Amino acid sequence: MPETQKRLLLRLHAGFFRHLNEQLYTCHSSETNRLFSSDPSVFAKYHELYRTQVEKWPENPLLKVISELEKLPNRTTIADFGCGDALLARTLKNKRVYSFDHIASNEYVTPCDMMHVPLNDQTVDVVVFSLSLMGKNLSDYISEAHRVAKPRGKLRIVEVKSRFESVSDFVSKLANLGWRVDNVDHVSNNVFIWIRAVKQERRASGPVDLRLLPCLYKCR
Ligand SMILES: C[S@@+](CC[C@H](N)C(=O)[O-])C[C@H]1O[C@@H](n2cnc3c(N)ncnc32)[C@H](O)[C@@H]1O
Repeated sequence: MPETQKRLLLRLHAGFFRHLNEQLYTCHSSETNRLFSSDPSVFAKYHELYRTQVEKWPENPLLKVISELEKLPNRTTIADFGCGDALLARTLKNKRVYSFDHIASNEYVTPCDMMHVPLNDQTVDVVVFSLSLMGKNLSDYISEAHRVAKPRGKLRIVEVKSRFESVSDFVSKLANLGWRVDNVDHVSNNVFIWIRAVKQERRASGPVDLRLLPCLYKCR
């Protein structure tokens, strides 16, 4: 293919990725779920472009979460909320891992909107959100994680640093939603932040407005 055509195609892909990304970060998850379910090829294309993006990063931040979870006993039950192509489950084959995403891109994934996952109450040791806190209704996901986590169950979040207007505000809202933050690692990497929390009693009886800024990747 001639160079000019290649460049044009790349720009088209970048535009598509940016547009879809914006939709994922700014809409309610039920809208995104409708979009992906009505045309799973959009989801496949999104992930193809997302993988290209990951390859440009010096490290995949999910690998740090995986290496920590690897050390836990084999009987540990893990729920990967917004798992993508389920790298976590494919790597940790000796653990019980439930993987959820809008669309099942392989046999490891259960398709659903993660505001309602098909797991019973208090059955999970660790809930993971790796770059998956997308959409308007973040507190629905965190509440759902709280429902499925065992007493003193763990929460692991990895997100892009620039999405946080105030980490301490995010941490206090997590506490209102029933998660006591034990550790925030924002120094070992310039781009990502890792949060570790433990399940406690939910403090807020009403809604909690948990927010992050949209993550707008620069696709070049
Ligand atoms: C940026 S990808 C990261 C994938 C994977 N966790 C990783 O670290 O490689 C975020 C994923 O979260 C999923 N996701 C976001 N909101 C979701 C929701 N409400 N229900 C199910 N999946 C969701 C997206 O579909 C996407 O596959």
